[in-house]
Amino acid sequence: MFYPIGTVKAVASKKKKSAQGAPAAARIAELRDLIAHHNQAYFGHDAPEISDADYDDLVRELAGLEADNPDLFSGESPTQTVGVAVVTTFAPVTHAMPMTSLDNAMDEDELRAWGERVAKGLDGASARYVCELKIDGLAISIRYENGELVQAATRGDGRVGEDVTGNIATIAAVPKKLIVKKGEVPAVLEVRGEVYMPIAAFEKLRAAKESENAERVAAGRKPEPVPANPRNAGAGSLRQKNPAVTAQRELSFWAYQVGDTRGVPQFDSHKDTLDYLASLGFPVNPAIVCVDAFAEVIEFCHRWRDSRDTLGYEIDGAVVKVDSLSQRELLGFTSRAPRWAIAFKFPPEERTTLLRDIQISVGRTGRVTPFAVLEPVFVGGSTVGMATLHNRAQVAAKDVRPGDTVVVRKAGDVIPEVVGPMLAKRPKNCKPWTFPDTCPCPLSTELVQVEGEADTRCIEPSCPYQRDQRIIYFASRGGMDIEGLGERTVFALSDAGFVDDAGDIYSLTEEQLLQIEGFGKISAQKLLAGIDASRHRPLPKLLTALGIKHLGPAASESLSFAFGTLDAIACASVDDLASIDGVGGVIAASIHSWFDKPANKRLVDKLRDAGVDFGNVERTTLPQVLVGKAVVVTGTLEGFSRDEAEAAIKQRGGKSPGSVSAKTFAVVVGAEPGASKLTKAEALGVPVLDETGFRTLLETGELPA
Ligand code: IVH
Repeated sequence: MFYPIGTVKAVASKKKKSAQGAPAAARIAELRDLIAHHNQAYFGHDAPEISDADYDDLVRELAGLEADNPDLFSGESPTQTVGVAVVTTFAPVTHAMPMTSLDNAMDEDELRAWGERVAKGLDGASARYVCELKIDGLAISIRYENGELVQAATRGDGRVGEDVTGNIATIAAVPKKLIVKKGEVPAVLEVRGEVYMPIAAFEKLRAAKESENAERVAAGRKPEPVPANPRNAGAGSLRQKNPAVTAQRELSFWAYQVGDTRGVPQFDSHKDTLDYLASLGFPVNPAIVCVDAFAEVIEFCHRWRDSRDTLGYEIDGAVVKVDSLSQRELLGFTSRAPRWAIAFKFPPEERTTLLRDIQISVGRTGRVTPFAVLEPVFVGGSTVGMATLHNRAQVAAKDVRPGDTVVVRKAGDVIPEVVGPMLAKRPKNCKPWTFPDTCPCPLSTELVQVEGEADTRCIEPSCPYQRDQRIIYFASRGGMDIEGLGERTVFALSDAGFVDDAGDIYSLTEEQLLQIEGFGKISAQKLLAGIDASRHRPLPKLLTALGIKHLGPAASESLSFAFGTLDAIACASVDDLASIDGVGGVIAASIHSWFDKPANKRLVDKLRDAGVDFGNVERTTLPQVLVGKAVVVTGTLEGFSRDEAEAAIKQRGGKSPGSVSAKTFAVVVGAEPGASKLTKAEALGVPVLDETGFRTLLETGELPA
């Protein structure tokens, strides 16, 4: 996926412009106070009130104003300092060498500008760069004396941190004793790196906290804050007074820098120090690469921006460092950060915004889903105005209320979700939200919560909201793919009384369409042509379009290949249906009961009468060599169209998803392949095949030798 580069910058400069109206000095003072407040909340109390990205915007706005107004410079400004003085009861630790922060590049232009500053600082001499992932965790300094871990400290304000030795010692990835294979045991070695919580550990912790909260709420008690992301969860875990609690949290560690040393080998380059750390037993991230051309630096940054979700931990950017230690010395430091390194920040996946309202929507199967109506916010590469709240239990566990400031998360292509409220920002009169008892449709039927199910449902068969959603689904891209028949048109046709089910679509007339607002002769004829074309969709599309509960596109494909026609599927017994790979008892029972219902029988008859194709799939007799294997096709193949290649995989029992993941068996690459699929395959070590390899795979089910 590609993010619109420069969007964050646009936000920052928009704010800057609005500030220019007001006196710059007043805005600078206001920003310094605001940032100091958020520093205290974040570093001092592990209780941030805004997302990192919103915080970064404030710092960038301040830095911009300070650059434009050098007379208002102050060494005390948060742009010149790191973090805050520690306020907890952990013992203070003065760092042997300050733990500085990094300057940020928010887009490719800023990254190139840094590269040019480096070249200038080195009088045009070429530099080699080490490209690393920017781990979204907590910076830690760990000190070893004579090979033994003696102290670990947080960064704090960069000068003084907190002593968290006991807690760090519980982390399995952190060596307690160095492995020295050759040479001397170093008298002093301070290793710096990032402690982080893997995503799986975070999800486990969050699920446990949410279920504790559900019990609390059920017992009439107040829910406790749930960590919003792995970084906050990691910070909280590290600040535990009892190391036994930290030990349960499954924290991990990547080493990326050396601090104070005595009695260690003399190194010329950063890469050599990393290799040395790895030889002593420290985990050094395997994605780290050393490159000579700046184009490769940019490629690294973009590659990881697009495949960050393939890692089992969170990263919020890439860090690029000059490799040569003597060149680093030449470049030196600013008051806040080294000139020899830069953090390339990825677009934020989390933002804070106002929760305006909570509403419910009714799906095609009657499932009722609560969703958040948000003050629109740019997150994860797009503007988000609505986000799912999943179900009743989740709203209760998160205790989000209209009026709250909430954390919104959108990672990759997933549906945006509300992570939780910022309790510190909750307005006083903010009331808990209660789930409605009745369907929002005009029939106002009572909603039911099925015993043992998380979902709340509207079970009224004639619910007009469900009916509209079924028609929308029927016409959608995954179903009959009827161009021009989107949500709005379906609502209008349904309000006008022209459609009662999806079968009625095929008897719509131009005259009727002209009565719908927004339709003219041309658009009406276009829609009718789109409807007409959909009569000849392949059987798996038609079967999916019917919207049978639990039946998705993959099982529809398998059933179509196995039975050949819709009528054969409609007549099949539950056992026959369940015997097909990828179908199983639940789907089979759902299909069987769907075809048994009178309303659905009427729909099937209408579709037949309308001339919709009920079976154009050859029953397959091919050996099922690809059962359980996912094969992704990208680019143009000579002997197969894309549809033919995918059908060939599916006819052999395999799956052909649209994107690469760790579970992908192989990626078949033709001419002009999609860059992100190839990159992802390489990053995940998924085998890549050409057309000849693909033919072998189809024949044998195995990768070519
Ligand atoms: S190097 C003087 N390398 O990012 C250089 N930092 O925004 C010190 N971070 O405080 C840092 N991954 O907590 C470095 N590969 C990496 C990193 C990394 C994450 C964090 C670190 C630092 C912050 C700066």
